[in-house]
Amino acid sequence: MKTRKLGASDLDITRIGLGTWAMGGDEWAYGWGPQDDAASVAAIQKAIDIGINWIDTAAVYGIGHSEEVVGRAVAGRRDKVLIATKCGRVLQGKGPTIVGRLTAKSVREELEGSLRRLGTDHIDLYQIHWPDPEPEIEEGWTEIARQVKAGKIRFAGVSNFSVPQITRLQKIHPVASLQPPYSMLRRDVEKELLPFCGANRIGVIVYSPMQAGLLAGRFTKERVAQLPDTDWRKKNPHFTEPALSANLALVEKLKAIAARKGHSVAELAIAWVLRRPEVTAAIVGGRGPEQVEQTRGGADWDLSPAEIAEIDKALAERQAAG
Ligand SMILES: NC(=O)c1ccc[n+]([C@@H]2O[C@H](COP(=O)([O-])OP(=O)(O)OC[C@H]3O[C@@H](n4cnc5c(N)ncnc54)[C@H](OP(=O)(O)O)[C@@H]3O)[C@@H](O)[C@H]2O)c1
Repeated sequence: MKTRKLGASDLDITRIGLGTWAMGGDEWAYGWGPQDDAASVAAIQKAIDIGINWIDTAAVYGIGHSEEVVGRAVAGRRDKVLIATKCGRVLQGKGPTIVGRLTAKSVREELEGSLRRLGTDHIDLYQIHWPDPEPEIEEGWTEIARQVKAGKIRFAGVSNFSVPQITRLQKIHPVASLQPPYSMLRRDVEKELLPFCGANRIGVIVYSPMQAGLLAGRFTKERVAQLPDTDWRKKNPHFTEPALSANLALVEKLKAIAARKGHSVAELAIAWVLRRPEVTAAIVGGRGPEQVEQTRGGADWDLSPAEIAEIDKALAERQAAG
């Protein structure tokens, strides 16, 4: 699998990283329905076996559970994989409400927790999950810079930040990467953030390239209706009418384009976000080894101009549908 340097950092990452949000399980506010830990471990090990060299997680996913599963899966193979995790979303009191917190003390405590759960003495990429609360971003970032000096963090990045917010942090410590949402159904990053990151050598690792699985080809109206109440997608506007029918019609058109090249539509969705030169890599969520296997082909598929034009036409028709 091809690799790229993450911005100005020394991290050489494969064009797909494995996303582990769903592996947090469903015992917290943003679960994806029931998830089997054994399948999660197998997915992570499959990813490493096929050459995916980085994993994205966050302390908040399953309130530490995703990190624990990642720690279990990489035990004995830590040197084969780079670990990216995130801080800044914490339980308010005993929960279940999750709030943003970026005080130095909170960041320090979160980092220690992540290191313990992941079974490692360093994080390769440590990211602020959300710029929340906004007035605290400098304090949190300053603490992260301190932990870089202490050797517990190799590189530091941000997620869901705007250009002005990144600019504020750059004055304190270099921002190695941005993790924004990006998919055919969510393109706002194209206007300002991608050009800014490209011009400033900030790596971009995009999340939800298959729009949380909606573009992966396994969704039908029936499946959406049957999603458990503990799956956050059940109430998400992309998965509810009137958007759902138009999105599923789009996926049918995309399937035909992918099939001509012997690829899955999931791989097409991934290849499409990777067509942008500013995008270093895509974070692809997988809940079991078979999904990791079925999406790997997106990493090295360079879409042709004709394929991109055909996808553009399908997207324009989707937009016209409202
Ligand atoms: N920084 C942030 O704020 C933020 C936000 C969101 C995500 N992320 C990161 O980005 C990662 C990826 O994003 P994501 O998980 O939201 O969305 P995604 O990668 O677009 O979609 C992942 C989901 O698609 C489905 N899927 C995967 N492979 C498939 C296949 N071959 N065929 C059919 N369905 C398949 C799975 O769900 P089902 O099988 O249940 O359909 C899987 O959980 C996350 O895991 C997380 O690490 C970060």
